[in-house]
Amino acid sequence: MSLSTRFTTLFDVEHPIVCGGMTRVGTPGLTAAVARAGALAFMPAHNSPTPEELVKDIARVRDLTDRPFGVNFTILPSRNPPPWEEYMRATVESGVRAVETAGQNPEPYLPMFRDGGVKVLHKCTSVRHALKAERIGVDAVSIDGFEAAGHPGEDDVPGLVVIPVLASQIGIPFIASGGFADGGGLVAALALGAAGISMGTRFMCTVEAPIHDNVKAAIVANDERSTNLIFRQLRNTGRYAKNAVSDDIVRILGEGGAFEDVSDLAAGPRGAIVLETGDLDAGLWCAGQTQGLIFDVPTVADLLARIVAEAEGTIGSLGALRG
Ligand SMILES: Cc1cc2nc3c(=O)[nH]c(=O)nc-3n(C[C@H](O)[C@H](O)[C@H](O)COP(=O)(O)O)c2cc1C
Repeated sequence: MSLSTRFTTLFDVEHPIVCGGMTRVGTPGLTAAVARAGALAFMPAHNSPTPEELVKDIARVRDLTDRPFGVNFTILPSRNPPPWEEYMRATVESGVRAVETAGQNPEPYLPMFRDGGVKVLHKCTSVRHALKAERIGVDAVSIDGFEAAGHPGEDDVPGLVVIPVLASQIGIPFIASGGFADGGGLVAALALGAAGISMGTRFMCTVEAPIHDNVKAAIVANDERSTNLIFRQLRNTGRYAKNAVSDDIVRILGEGGAFEDVSDLAAGPRGAIVLETGDLDAGLWCAGQTQGLIFDVPTVADLLARIVAEAEGTIGSLGALRG
């Protein structure tokens, strides 16, 4: 049995599984490990401090694998935005053939990608944004359910609903993101009409993820309630691991505080300290509800082999039930 789908065909990968772009976590090592195991990882461009460094990081992945991988562009509102077009040109000129766009409408950049033969997977948090992405000409969409780590959007619609609603309306292939960690989830996503899944938190808990063992152990120990939704009042919701810092942010904003009152708590460098030192309350760190589904720290290859075997087994037994 093979789990080939419209997604695997479009992006030329073996498994219908993506490792979504992850700030600080999606290093060349993790990206290559996912590629070697037959799935598609997107390495965030912003993890590399300059476009020149991104070219070197792309070369580092290539030193480790000749299988396909992609680059993620998380284009968030910022007073000092990174030189996105230079990062994109560097990506295209390096011969990368897949990108994941997130945060903003990617329309201005599509001609550059199309001319470079690059396939665009756009990440959205609502059906209306996914349909808009289809209209402007992206190749595929990744739809985040409310379960997701990072930015699940403002609509609060979980995967169980958003996936089939999108399936009934979209023509291009789409994958489902948020809440996936095992073969059962993959089968469910396929059954609901997705052509694959994207995972973040599950890949944090692998041998190759470049984060402190304390963070991996915390994810294993945590359950599905171990997250906080921060910045709800600012309509910029983020799902992060529950800890002293995310608790404080929720409390301060809930009491009427402004962004300025929590900006120090939310600072990126504090989050980096958590991942590097394993001090779990040093800052914000990102993780989703799938923490309740994660019980071990396997290698990426073992994880993907297990998910695919579970999915194939489940599909086989469902077929037997039907027969
Ligand atoms: C540590 C971490 C960092 C992330 N950073 C980004 C990012 O920079 N850009 C982005 O588009 N998504 C980011 N995400 C979201 C993931 O790409 C993915 O959409 C999400 O984790 C899916 O939900 P899951 O964690 O339930 O699998 C991040 C997720 C995690 C866990």
